[in-house]
Amino acid sequence: MESSKLKPNATTVICFFLCCLNLFFLFRGTSCDAQIMTSTGGPSLVETNNTSMRIEEPVVTKIKNNLEYDYIVLFGDSLTEKGVNAMGGWGQRMIQNYSRKAIVLVHGFGFYNSYWLKFVIEPLLRDIPSHRVKLMTLLVGTNDLSSETMPQHVPLEKYYQYLEEIILTMHTSAPQSRILVMTPPPSRGKAHTIEDSILYRDACLETVAKIRKNVSQPWAKKQLQTLNTWDVFMPEKRYKLPGFQTKEWNPFFSDGIHFSELGNERLFTGVIQKIHETWPELISKRMKSIVVDAGLLPGPAALEENDEATKWWLFERM
Ligand SMILES: *[C@@H]1O[C@H](CO)[C@@H](O)[C@H](O)[C@H]1NC(C)=O
Ligand SMILES: *[C@@H]1O[C@H](CO)[C@@H](O)[C@H](O)[C@H]1NC(C)=O
Ligand SMILES: *[C@@H]1O[C@H](CO)[C@@H](O)[C@H](O)[C@H]1NC(C)=O
Ligand SMILES: *[C@@H]1O[C@H](CO)[C@@H](O)[C@H](O)[C@H]1NC(C)=O
Repeated sequence: MESSKLKPNATTVICFFLCCLNLFFLFRGTSCDAQIMTSTGGPSLVETNNTSMRIEEPVVTKIKNNLEYDYIVLFGDSLTEKGVNAMGGWGQRMIQNYSRKAIVLVHGFGFYNSYWLKFVIEPLLRDIPSHRVKLMTLLVGTNDLSSETMPQHVPLEKYYQYLEEIILTMHTSAPQSRILVMTPPPSRGKAHTIEDSILYRDACLETVAKIRKNVSQPWAKKQLQTLNTWDVFMPEKRYKLPGFQTKEWNPFFSDGIHFSELGNERLFTGVIQKIHETWPELISKRMKSIVVDAGLLPGPAALEENDEATKWWLFERM
């Protein structure tokens, strides 16, 4: 019963609405600009019967409503992946710190080594508008340095090679982006010792230094940097002193490998500090907010339903 009652009503509404639109265009005549004509004049008019959507459209198209966020990509193994598992994780803090400023994409892959990751990076970046990627971090090596009995193991000389390949692929995929390479931290596990960590840390530092020195890679001087996680945890470099005990690293890790709350906090602060020193234009405070802060500057009241003013407030005043 209900639907048969509704049908004539709906048809009447459509006819009335289509007539209005015709009149509207007749009235506007040639003064309608091309943009307006294409957005309302297409076949969609006939196919849809949603009046509330249609009526507004001719004016709406004049206001741009694209939100072109920049991107920050965090790439690596479980040390990156677990950065968002808990509140206070370094990735979580990055997301928070860049809220409204940039989209922080966390691409961490637990158990992955540099060999597996070098195949992942290009497809991951392929779908992101490359000119909008402002910063990428890379943290890989902790799985590589595990003992040869583990499938994740990557020999040291291969780690040099794969790390370089990953960095160069990152650069090719987003040529304007800054790249921050973090050294494998001072971790210890069932399958590796602190001495293994030292070898891969130094390999990481050397690889970045080599690229930065290469005159055929002129971008690298300005866009490529390392962050030595060992110095982030112990800025006074106590670990270099005789008598230093590896257990002094314990507070920064929850299980010898992954960061504790303190480790996460230190790493986040280290990353932000490095950005501040090296690429100050990329600290959150300096980046443009994408949408207006309604707490500081409230928009038009919803009760007024002034859609045009609202869209202007949202998209045009920034
Ligand atoms: C138009 O509305 C009728 C009911 O009022 C509905 O059955 C039909 O699917 C709608 N058509 C479109 C294209 O939305
Ligand atoms: C028509 O469009 C408006 C706005 O997009 C939407 O809220 C509403 O549900 C739609 N109505 C129908 C009948 O499709
Ligand atoms: C981002 O982090 C820095 C350093 O901790 C801090 O000074 C700043 O207030 C943070 N900004 C936001 C929006 O959280
Ligand atoms: C420097 O970069 C060029 C171009 O990518 C490369 O062919 C060359 O092998 C690099 N040199 C070193 C020492 O890595």
